Amino acid sequence: MSEFMTLAALAGEEEICTRCPLYQNATQAVPGEGPRGARVMFVGEQPGDVEDLSGRPFVGPAGRILDKALAKVHLPREQCFVTNAVKHFKFEPRGKRRLHKKPDAGEIDACRWWLEQERALVAPGLIVALGATAIRGVLGRPASVSQSRGRLIDLDQGAKFLATIHPSFLLRLQEEEDKRREWTRFLSDLEIAAEWAR
Ligand code: URA
Repeated sequence: MSEFMTLAALAGEEEICTRCPLYQNATQAVPGEGPRGARVMFVGEQPGDVEDLSGRPFVGPAGRILDKALAKVHLPREQCFVTNAVKHFKFEPRGKRRLHKKPDAGEIDACRWWLEQERALVAPGLIVALGATAIRGVLGRPASVSQSRGRLIDLDQGAKFLATIHPSFLLRLQEEEDKRREWTRFLSDLEIAAEWAR
């Protein structure tokens, strides 16, 4: 059971969250987006620069990769709930730029309460964790992507769990061959989610 009646009410409370210090420098909290009752929930790491400014999850470069992959496996994003393990952007100012910084365990665990509220309201049958921060956010304990990716795992309340890489991992690869291989692996992980949702 969620403490909130609607996703809008939940988003309003997330906006005034002070559970960890990240709210101090971020522009705004970025709540999850998508329909209540979505069968699949995607969990990323934290908003990036673009998301921090727009207030919407996965609308920057990593979001474009996620969108492209979802289109490839025929899983419409509008039917999914897309959120992050951490709701505020963590960064280090570098001149005019804001460089992404990984959230630490304390920040992920502090934000887990919000993820649980989103999960209770949306009640997805499958939660897909994108990267290690998301895995910790969902499971409440650390696990590596390589240990758990690519297979459906039973979660509490009858839900399933699937882990894969964070799409920004693909952006960091330099070699064409690595990019191609990892893109194909990402698609085959997401195909499991799409297949489950059909
Ligand atoms: N990376 C994430 O993990 N989430 C976003 O919303 C954007 C980039």
